[in-house]
Amino acid sequence: MERKDFLKLVSTGAGILTLSPALLACQSENKGGPNPSVDAFSRPLSFPEEIRASEFELAAETARRKLAGGAASDVYTLNGSLPSPTIRVQRGDTLSIDYRNRIDQESIIHWHGLVVPPDMDGHPKDAVRPGQTYNYRFDIDQRAGTYWYHPHPDKLTGPQVYRGLGGFLLVEDEEEQALNLPSGEQELPFIIQEKQFNDRGQMVYSLNMMDRMMGYFGNTLLVNGMKAPYHEVSTRFYRLRLLNGSNARIMELALSDENPFYVIGNDGGLLDRPYEVSSVTLSPGERADLLVDFSRYKAGDTVRMSARLLNGMGGMMEDMMDRDGGGMMNGEVNMMERMQGMMGGNSNNSQNKGGAFLEFRITRETEDPFRLPQTLTELSFPDAADADRTRRIDLTMEMMQGSAINGRFFEMLRVDEKVSQGALEIWEFVNNTMMPHPMHIHVTHFKVLDRSGGSLAPHERGWKDTVRVDAGETVRVLTEFDAQEGLYVFHCHNLEHEDNGMMANFEIIS
Ligand code: C2O
Ligand code: CU
Ligand code: CU
Repeated sequence: MERKDFLKLVSTGAGILTLSPALLACQSENKGGPNPSVDAFSRPLSFPEEIRASEFELAAETARRKLAGGAASDVYTLNGSLPSPTIRVQRGDTLSIDYRNRIDQESIIHWHGLVVPPDMDGHPKDAVRPGQTYNYRFDIDQRAGTYWYHPHPDKLTGPQVYRGLGGFLLVEDEEEQALNLPSGEQELPFIIQEKQFNDRGQMVYSLNMMDRMMGYFGNTLLVNGMKAPYHEVSTRFYRLRLLNGSNARIMELALSDENPFYVIGNDGGLLDRPYEVSSVTLSPGERADLLVDFSRYKAGDTVRMSARLLNGMGGMMEDMMDRDGGGMMNGEVNMMERMQGMMGGNSNNSQNKGGAFLEFRITRETEDPFRLPQTLTELSFPDAADADRTRRIDLTMEMMQGSAINGRFFEMLRVDEKVSQGALEIWEFVNNTMMPHPMHIHVTHFKVLDRSGGSLAPHERGWKDTVRVDAGETVRVLTEFDAQEGLYVFHCHNLEHEDNGMMANFEIIS
């Protein structure tokens, strides 16, 4: 980020301060302070129940649960489960799902990464009132992959995902099964989410001006709804399916000893081959499919999974220090801190420094029949030169109102982009703001062509549905729109940005 952008932000902030004292005065929760916690790494990790049926119901309910020790929090469960159940299906299945909305707000489920008909996609216009049910019926006809599902009502996606609605939807197919990847006990789905706990250990979600602008950050990382659990493994390969299910936090995930592991898949399924890496960066909505070889450890060893937090106010300042070689004046830092203090923002990294959030305990030495394959699948992407058109999508910052798309905020039925069915298009996301935006397009998988700010990470080289667009950056993606005719959305997957209107409709027309 450049200094002028930083100053722009500061002056925007100052503008808010002078313009809306009333809004600033009503800061409710005390978000800071220590929170009483369970002893770190003392509880075994649990996994949500798995659904392996093609006809079932999902009932969303309000509940109270102890999440991080301390007092119980108000949460939403699905079939009594938090996080939501893992749905495992086969390519070729026809699913029939009744979504029963028994929470206190309107709601609707979206199948993130699935290509389904428009009325099955969970468009916010289809949200159902409390007490009502939405019937889904669609075919699974796409590659195996780590997909997920979550609520999508207009302006309420953030709070509903935050309070616990959202789970994995794993699609399997014959091609993937032939690889004999680690499965059963050796396949571990992890939903990683940042939450804010108050000093009584209760999870809180209340937005102030700063949160609306930046997204809702927290002070604690949960994995599968648990704080600092441990998981026992043996000396073999494990398949880790990671989902960053945070509202706003972008994180770089690694092993605490910095040992390498392999990325084998991402949002849209397998990559062409395993890539050896020592970390993977996921923004909200993105997934990574990893293989970790625990045979390099001995029984009795432990290794942790840790996160470096990249965005938020702290991340932004750190970023500037890095890039400008510490060229920021102290006065600016102080002003930023003062501004945060006044606005009650919880985005300060001093509240969450990241670090270890899950411990692997190597408890058993065993032979591992699995051998890392040289290749995984053949990926063939269309040629960018064959694109029917390039569509420029400007990510903009509207004074006092937050981030928008092409200068406009979401309107339920306004068609913002018309796309011909079957068209091959380049979408060019131009980020004119001073913060990153993970951009997601419904019912498509795209190939990321390039990012102006650097090269693509290995997990960005396969088929994706969500891509991080850093501050000031332009990212181009190539996609063919072959879903059914109808209305769908694309949006920023920072859920406060989405709820604040950083979302637009596109219509597939014939
Ligand atoms: Cu995961 Cu429209 O979202
Ligand atoms: Cu989606
Ligand atoms: Cu955004």
